[in-house]
Amino acid sequence: MATFISALVFLLAVMGGTSPAASQSSAPTEPMCYDWGESSEGAVSVVEGEVGWLSCPLFSHPSVYNYTSTQSAGHNLFWYRLPEGHDLEQPITYSSRLSKDRERLFLQPAAAADTGQYICMLRNKSSCSKIAIRLKVLRPDDVVKCALPVAVAPIEDLIPLQEGKTLDCPDLQDATKMSESAPKVQWYFVAHPVCDWYPFWDSDREQKGNSLQVHLMMEQYQGLYYCRVQYQRRNQTLNFTRSINVTAILPLSLPKEPSIMNPTHDQIFTVKTGTEVRLVCRGQLPFVLDKPWREIWWTVDGKTLDKLPDRFTQINRVVRDHFRDLTIENILVIQDFQSKDLKREFYCSVKNERGFDTRRAQLEEEVSLPTVELGCGLGVTLLLMLILFVVYHVFWLELLLLYRSWFGTDERHTDDKEFDVYISYARNSEEEQFVLLTLRRVLENELGYSVCIFDRDSLPGGTITDETLSFVARSRRLLVVVSPGYASQGSQALLELKAGIDTMALAGHLRVILVQYKPVRRKGWVRELRRARVALALVRWQGDKSRELSSRFWKRLRVELPVRRVSSRGEDEEESSKEVALMRLHSQNSTNSQTGLISNTVKDPQKVLNSAA
Ligand SMILES: *[C@@H]1O[C@H](CO)[C@@H](O)[C@H](O)[C@H]1NC(C)=O
Ligand SMILES: *[C@@H]1O[C@H](CO)[C@@H](O)[C@H](O)[C@H]1NC(C)=O
Ligand SMILES: *[C@@H]1O[C@H](CO)[C@@H](O)[C@H](O)[C@H]1NC(C)=O
Ligand SMILES: *[C@@H]1O[C@H](CO)[C@@H](O)[C@H](O)[C@H]1NC(C)=O
Ligand SMILES: *[C@@H]1O[C@H](CO)[C@@H](O)[C@H](O)[C@H]1NC(C)=O
Repeated sequence: MATFISALVFLLAVMGGTSPAASQSSAPTEPMCYDWGESSEGAVSVVEGEVGWLSCPLFSHPSVYNYTSTQSAGHNLFWYRLPEGHDLEQPITYSSRLSKDRERLFLQPAAAADTGQYICMLRNKSSCSKIAIRLKVLRPDDVVKCALPVAVAPIEDLIPLQEGKTLDCPDLQDATKMSESAPKVQWYFVAHPVCDWYPFWDSDREQKGNSLQVHLMMEQYQGLYYCRVQYQRRNQTLNFTRSINVTAILPLSLPKEPSIMNPTHDQIFTVKTGTEVRLVCRGQLPFVLDKPWREIWWTVDGKTLDKLPDRFTQINRVVRDHFRDLTIENILVIQDFQSKDLKREFYCSVKNERGFDTRRAQLEEEVSLPTVELGCGLGVTLLLMLILFVVYHVFWLELLLLYRSWFGTDERHTDDKEFDVYISYARNSEEEQFVLLTLRRVLENELGYSVCIFDRDSLPGGTITDETLSFVARSRRLLVVVSPGYASQGSQALLELKAGIDTMALAGHLRVILVQYKPVRRKGWVRELRRARVALALVRWQGDKSRELSSRFWKRLRVELPVRRVSSRGEDEEESSKEVALMRLHSQNSTNSQTGLISNTVKDPQKVLNSAA
């Protein structure tokens, strides 16, 4: 494919006497011209209708290509163009609009059709180099929306809040020089996402002549301001655009002296020797217009950190930027803090153009508490308490029994009573059976108590009332088997209950225990029982569950009954077993024959005689 350029090169090559074979190859320029490809600097953007230019990128590295020296070596610079969508390089037709000046190609102004790739070629008779660069001509409508393409980086400008300032378009003076009439300026404001053309929607900003006057600066007026300069030259209207990045700062009337926020006057840093210690200094460093220099630093014994061992380092961090008034934190890090460091003087200082502040950090050694040991000890104690609590709640009956068996006193040694237990119950078959077959059997045979059951132990012929009172008075406990029919009016049971309650109230040597054989509603109880219930122990029989001697029922009952040590002391055991044997004998007799033998526990011989008669 023969392009214009290859044809040109071919021509030159033939003229220069180089081998025609080389130039007739499929890409004849290649062996002769070094191709740098496309410039890495990226595309150049120009707004349609504005002035723009391309600089040959070969000269971006003057150490390789120096325009002056290449000219002296007989080099010529050629520009070619590869329009968008074409693969044919075309020579540039120079005109008043498109002109070449040294290494630049000027477009005055740029047109939409100028978009494309441009190649600049530098060559003399024996050597050749070329490089490509892309040009983008942007439509003003596409780009004006919120950001105008500006060839020059924005100028930074600061306006204090609540104050005013006049903005002039940069480079306007240059336009004035070139212009044949007074240049005109148009202002834009871009505060994303809105983009305003002048006039802006408020009265705080106003264009006066070519300048923009900000009467009253507000935070929302920060942003990019664009100005487009338009001028006349040679019957042509030319224009260019510049931008100003406006940032608000705090009013100049505010105090600008720096100050230290931390450490406060009474702040104390607790330090631990052998560890890494961090002292935080926090300073307020206002911005001073035109003199923004400011600093925050630590000194140790009057020395800055660069004159101290490597153990001392600092970390700087901007905590807050409030309209350029900075809050800066400087952390002094001391590795492996030593006790001698405690005696050093640590000062934090802040400084800006307006002033200086310094404060001493007070250090105090931490009193090391053996926290771990303390925590463990406390934990173990709590755990033990918890265990004890649980154990007590689950096994309190067992514990109570155990305690009594060790420390309880045997009431037999301190009183002169005959019976351990007097059983009072309703005389109906169910309760009677429970009393005789279960309660009596276990209490007498298995637990070794002496039991008094009126119907069994009383002698025929006696006055029931007297005998009941006497029996009850001679018992240590009155065991009342509560049932629905218990203690109906005029019954033996009521008599027993009254006797028991009276004895308890008067002499205090008797305790009444309630045994609930079947669930009974409180309402069904006789008044005496109801009244006394509050103060009395109630043990519930729970059917088959309570049959075992190790069940809760028997344990509860044993707690209420007098202490009976199941000891191995022969004497006691012998005595009690003797007693049991006697009781058994007696009980057999009393049940088998109403006129039988007199129990040896009955002490009144007169009564015995009376009953015998
Ligand atoms: C200058 O800018 C205006 C407005 O965008 C545009 O219409 C015009 O083509 C540009 N160039 C000249 C020479 O006015
Ligand atoms: C280019 O070369 C000329 C003469 O050789 C020299 O005076 C000039 O400083 C050079 N420019 C650069 C940018 O190196
Ligand atoms: C062409 O330029 C090179 C260096 O760029 C130079 O060495 C050479 O002498 C020049 N050739 C002629 C014919 O001037
Ligand atoms: C400028 O344009 C006017 C008419 O548009 C023409 O009469 C005049 O000759 C032009 N001047 C130049 C310097 O081109
Ligand atoms: C304008 O200035 C602000 C603050 O200095 C900066 O954050 C922002 O990037 C700047 N904008 C442009 C477009 O340069």
